[in-house]
Amino acid sequence: MAKVIVVYESKHGNTKLVADKIIEGMREVSGIETALSELKEVDLDRLTEYDAILVGSPNHWGRATRNTRVFIDELGNLNLKGKLATVFDTCFSSDFEKAVKKMEKQISEKVTGLKLVAPGLSIRVKGIKGPIIEGELPKCKEFGAKIAAQIK
Ligand SMILES: Cc1cc2nc3c(=O)[nH]c(=O)nc-3n(C[C@H](O)[C@H](O)[C@H](O)COP(=O)(O)O)c2cc1C
Repeated sequence: MAKVIVVYESKHGNTKLVADKIIEGMREVSGIETALSELKEVDLDRLTEYDAILVGSPNHWGRATRNTRVFIDELGNLNLKGKLATVFDTCFSSDFEKAVKKMEKQISEKVTGLKLVAPGLSIRVKGIKGPIIEGELPKCKEFGAKIAAQIK
């Protein structure tokens, strides 16, 4: 059984909703055990128990939140050799994929051994408090199912 944890930060609930839908998609695939954790509650010492780590953040000022960036730096202190990762963000249409690309770069540079298993998912919102733009949510479930199939 492959174990996956989805770690996210969310101030207004949009990124949480994306995380929930990703988990929903993952649970459609057999042979995967999923866990969901808010960033502020994540137990760093237990992260090595997982085969894959997904990191989600809202786009704040063109990149992931400060807490998310600190968290990725902290991942660099763990032995995650051979483990898999991918990322997701929520953003305005104008900043589509900006935060995911930066998170991917940070992981590649700082977290040696952790392999990006698929390009990150960027989900567009209408305003700061949402809602998520129509047609975006089904992509989250699909993304979850795709990632689960890849890591199992
Ligand atoms: C302080 C702050 C700064 C933001 N800056 C950007 C930005 O530069 N680009 C962007 O696309 N969205 C920006 N946003 C919009 C957020 O990405 C969007 O509201 C996101 O969906 C919030 O996620 P959450 O509901 O999980 O907190 C910003 C939001 C906040 C609160």
